Amino acid sequence: MADLTLPALRWAEPPEGPVLVLLDQTRLPAQEVELVCTDVPGLVGAIRSLAVRGAPVLGLAGAYGVALAAARGYDVEEAARQLAGARPTAVNLGYGVRRAREAYLAAGGGAAGAAAALAEARALHREDAEAGERLAEFGHELLAELMPGGGFRLLTHCNTGSLVSGGGGTAFAVVRAAHRAGELRRLWVGETRPLLQGARLTAYEAAREGMPYAVLADGAAGSLFAAGEVDAVLIGADRIAADGSVANKVGSYPLAVLARHHDVPFVVVAPVTTVDPEAADGSAIPVEQRPGREVTEVRPGVQVAPVGAQAYNPAFDVTPPELVTAIVTDLGVVSPVDRGNLADVCSRSRST
Ligand code: MRU
Repeated sequence: MADLTLPALRWAEPPEGPVLVLLDQTRLPAQEVELVCTDVPGLVGAIRSLAVRGAPVLGLAGAYGVALAAARGYDVEEAARQLAGARPTAVNLGYGVRRAREAYLAAGGGAAGAAAALAEARALHREDAEAGERLAEFGHELLAELMPGGGFRLLTHCNTGSLVSGGGGTAFAVVRAAHRAGELRRLWVGETRPLLQGARLTAYEAAREGMPYAVLADGAAGSLFAAGEVDAVLIGADRIAADGSVANKVGSYPLAVLARHHDVPFVVVAPVTTVDPEAADGSAIPVEQRPGREVTEVRPGVQVAPVGAQAYNPAFDVTPPELVTAIVTDLGVVSPVDRGNLADVCSRSRST
């Protein structure tokens, strides 16, 4: 089967000096344009504007960002601070920054530190790709257990494929595995207002894979469930608290409520790097509030609400553990979802 995964980011070393090259996700699906980051402010801007986005790849961007700062002789401590603070919710961003920074410091800084930070970013990249393979495998097995016989009609939200990962992604990696096994009847793609990561990015990836997919307005999900057209919901996560509360793209929680009402499994797929043991429960997860114009405009500069309209624009919401059927991690499946089971799976080693 052809490899249809997209490189969301790559390190390059042209004669002018090292750079981090991003596939600019704000331009998809109309244009496949690369964005070249030569410095940390440029990368921080790309993270804030969502040119690079999605929890696991934010970890990679953070790690490569530290490597970039080190390689170009910038203040690594200041770079690490700016990168880690670029967006607050995805715990992977701070994790990637921390790993590369610690590698830099352990090597004594300077050129050796720069090489160590880059090696660490590359190691994280490989680990993330491998985690994606395990997520696909465990998630696919879980689908077979929940719904023997295949023919799955899966609903997803936001974007969780190759664009968010060093490999195949999280929830979308499971969908891809089902599709490649001939078991996907339909992928329902929630458009994901306001920034349309579902309609723009998941539909783009689904089309590249040749999946049977359809995009729906977020508000149409209720009638889709009521019509009995959804067998399971599969989403990713930006941060999972120690009690199993899941922060993900705004609109995930209403889907969890609908899924429970209609007795449909609600499955979260995320690497253990997305679990934050320091967040005791959902109330400890910082939820990013984004500019209101993202809601009052349909795309930059195209106003749909009256000029001066106020807006409510949280980028994420938090689903409580009791609404989550299972959390598929790269170390195993957590179900039922509770503090003890989550800690147990997260403490496993990769070889078990
Ligand atoms: O604001 P975004 O586009 O960065 O939000 C991304 C999501 O909410 C994804 O669903 C999440 O990062 C999981 S992807 C592995």
